[in-house]
Amino acid sequence: RGTIYTAGRPPWYDTAGQQVEPFLIGICGGSASGKTTVATKIIESLNIPWVTLLSMDSFYKVLNEKQHDMAARNEYNFDHPDAFDFELLKTTLQRLKEGRKADVPIYNFVTHSRESRTKLMYGANVIIFEGILTFYDAEVLKMCDMKVFVDTDADVRLARRLHRDISQRGRDLDGVLKQYSTMVKPAYFYYIAPSMVHADIIVPRGGDNEVAIELIVQHVHTQLQLRGFKLREKLAHSYIGQPLP
Ligand code: C5P
Repeated sequence: RGTIYTAGRPPWYDTAGQQVEPFLIGICGGSASGKTTVATKIIESLNIPWVTLLSMDSFYKVLNEKQHDMAARNEYNFDHPDAFDFELLKTTLQRLKEGRKADVPIYNFVTHSRESRTKLMYGANVIIFEGILTFYDAEVLKMCDMKVFVDTDADVRLARRLHRDISQRGRDLDGVLKQYSTMVKPAYFYYIAPSMVHADIIVPRGGDNEVAIELIVQHVHTQLQLRGFKLREKLAHSYIGQPLP
């Protein structure tokens, strides 16, 4: 049983004419736990065309003036579920799962706002969706075919976050520590850590855990085969969020 490709573009159909649904991996974990590193390593190791990486950051709500002022003082809670536009997030995931394209907002952490341009994403063989609250919403959980929790030591996460927020996100030391102790850390214990119960796989040490990444990749390959995908061999490298040329 082969798969009929529609001119190299998703959605794909199996020989019975049924559309093959993309395999959705949800990756959850605390801030700076290495979610993106795990996702990137999965993509590299999968070595198949059409893998889309979607981040929850894209779905941060647009702030009003008062909220902007709070964010500038490190007092706006970006770790609370209310900070995310779950409706847009679910519509986008649903569209991608149906093999349709979706316009995804691009988030700017320096200005705490969405950029004017958006990123056009397509459905894919595999979609990886990563974020701090990916296991929070029941409908999102239901959409995920595989749920991975990246469990990295809290000191390591804080050290990485300090480094990243100061060097890349335009923050200062006192501000990062204030936000961490008042909002990031409590949200981890209140929302993120308890959501670990939904995970199929817990990855200790994040991106360093080559064995866990390999196990995930093997499972995805098996699932794709079961779903009737017949991936063309040696067809390019994984491509993040973009169609193959
Ligand atoms: O990449 P990571 O998963 O760490 O991104 C989520 C984190 O980004 C949250 O813990 C939140 O505190 C932080 N954030 C921020 N400023 C924003 C939006 C999110 O510090 N404008």
